[in-house]
Amino acid sequence: MSNTRSRRAAPRGEQFLNRYGPWAVVTGASSGIGRAFAYQLAERGMNLVLVSRRRRLLEALAQELSTAWGIEVRVLALDLGLESAGEDLATATVGLDVGLLVSSAGFGHAGPFIDAELTNDIEMVNLNCRSLMEQSWRFGRRFVERGRGGLVLMSSLVGFQGVPLAANYAATKAYVQSLAEGLHLELRSKGVDVIASAPGPVHSGFASRARMQMGQAVDPDRVARVTLAALGRKSTVRPGFLSKFLEGALKPLTRPGRVRMMAKVMRGMAADA
Ligand SMILES: NC(=O)c1ccc[n+]([C@@H]2O[C@H](COP(=O)([O-])OP(=O)(O)OC[C@H]3O[C@@H](n4cnc5c(N)ncnc54)[C@H](OP(=O)(O)O)[C@@H]3O)[C@@H](O)[C@H]2O)c1
Repeated sequence: MSNTRSRRAAPRGEQFLNRYGPWAVVTGASSGIGRAFAYQLAERGMNLVLVSRRRRLLEALAQELSTAWGIEVRVLALDLGLESAGEDLATATVGLDVGLLVSSAGFGHAGPFIDAELTNDIEMVNLNCRSLMEQSWRFGRRFVERGRGGLVLMSSLVGFQGVPLAANYAATKAYVQSLAEGLHLELRSKGVDVIASAPGPVHSGFASRARMQMGQAVDPDRVARVTLAALGRKSTVRPGFLSKFLEGALKPLTRPGRVRMMAKVMRGMAADA
């Protein structure tokens, strides 16, 4: 997979704030990777809009971050799977000079496709794809107008080929990966940096909801740190050993061969295999 490099160095410190600040929107901020992004953006002095469904978790985080870093934090309790959510998010951020979107809200499911609940798989497409696309469009437009900004889209190592026993989840992440790669080149000349972050297993709330057992999982802080360091430099970043290892192991195989290899990997991970 291409890790397109630009000649520009990754913005740091004041530069980061000037390019992507003063406000960032982080979806999925109540847990795991989104929460880790919120911590690291707060450390960099960014004001934050924290979005997910669990208001109490967001409010506790907002309190902690504003006290620790003297930043402004707003909370938006929203089910992003709903069709109206994109407009609600846009309305809630009108008047804020937002320069960065971290779209981390998402979930997966492992197990045989035809045994799964159809409503759950439709909800997954609505959240992982439709909502992320609408956020990218709405904030992408705003960032192009201001001539600078960044979109961080959560992909996954499963997004590079079909994956038996996680077929729909992998397909949603293939969508994210493809969207991010296209937008990376399309928006670069307009001052907007786009990156797909494609980790392997990460310690978070993801595995229990997905009914997956995860070995070799990395810390969400590492995912956030590596991704922010690569923003503005690469179109795709693969945080964690397993993601990089599988990239190398899958590279020599044909695409059907990669699918067969991922079937073996998933048989060891899916609780309902
Ligand atoms: N963990 C992994 O192994 C892994 C690997 C590769 C990629 N990823 C991707 O990384 C992203 C973050 O996952 P994670 O590991 O941090 O999982 P997580 O700990 O389960 O966090 C998921 C976040 O999404 C939010 N969310 C879920 N449904 C939502 C909805 N309908 N509306 C609004 N927010 C919703 C959750 O908040 P509420 O419950 O409060 O709504 C939570 O904050 C996902 O896109 C996932 O696909 C994860």
